[in-house]
Amino acid sequence: MHTLRDISELRHTLREHRLRGQRIALVPTMGNLHAGHLALVARARANADVVVASLFVNPMQFGPGEDLDAYPRTFEADQAQLTEAGCDVLFSPTISALYPNGLAAQTRVHVPEMGEGLCGSSRPGHFDGVSTVVSMLFNLVQPDVAFFGQKDYQQLAVIRKLASDLHMPIEIIGVPIVRAEDGLALSSRNGYLSQEERAIAPALYQTLCKLRDALEGGESVERVLHGGHTALYDAGFTPDYLELRDTMLGPVTPSTRHAVLLAAAHLGPARLIDNLSVQLP
Ligand code: PAJ
Repeated sequence: MHTLRDISELRHTLREHRLRGQRIALVPTMGNLHAGHLALVARARANADVVVASLFVNPMQFGPGEDLDAYPRTFEADQAQLTEAGCDVLFSPTISALYPNGLAAQTRVHVPEMGEGLCGSSRPGHFDGVSTVVSMLFNLVQPDVAFFGQKDYQQLAVIRKLASDLHMPIEIIGVPIVRAEDGLALSSRNGYLSQEERAIAPALYQTLCKLRDALEGGESVERVLHGGHTALYDAGFTPDYLELRDTMLGPVTPSTRHAVLLAAAHLGPARLIDNLSVQLP
């Protein structure tokens, strides 16, 4: 695996692959890799000739007071896992390489509607930061296909929308959530949890499963969501949101059949997110 920090080196390396007609896949990450990230790399490996992973803790998507400084940085371990997973190129630029004029002067990509509500409300500016850096990575790598996790459901929707609106010829593939045995969705932020909090954390997924079953059994959405909020508080979470949306993140109407139940909740120092698909009767 080639580890590249330089934009010009990346362009040079990928140009050669492109000239040979090879199909290029991109897996963007912020590092501290776990089995969730590696599932994306495995899908990319099976789908393309050249697999590029990016590792960049993007300051633009962190709000003031968020965990930018605390975010776990485990470069050597990440590099070893990517090599093992059959990744061809690791692109890990510095902040000044991507944002040479600083964040304030940086052109931004804003995806309206899809980026509003849910995590867009609790984390103002977050999706502009994600959309901007992902657009940059798309322009630098010019992949044929890019892989994102369904764990970050709204992020995936935002990226699909930006690629479509900006006419980027990139196939966007969503990969199912990888969970720990007890159901907790794997996340770099799980490392912030104490042993006691880690024991509580699977209650987020377990609550979503119960709510899904109630909704699929025909119970009223309002009642189920109200009960869900109470259950999360009782388990020790401070919920940010718990919502049922249609699969495009629009409002659920009486004719909606395929829906998604989305939650974000604080547990100690961590903010956890999760989601489950729901088939309404
Ligand atoms: P990061 O949190 O490192 O996640 C990188 C990718 O891994 C995302 O597409 C995310 O949805 C996916 N992922 C994380 N945990 C997962 C799990 N348990 N199962 C399946 N997929 C999982 O998301 C970001 O980084 C950044 O916002 C980024 C897109 C790289 C832009 O900076």
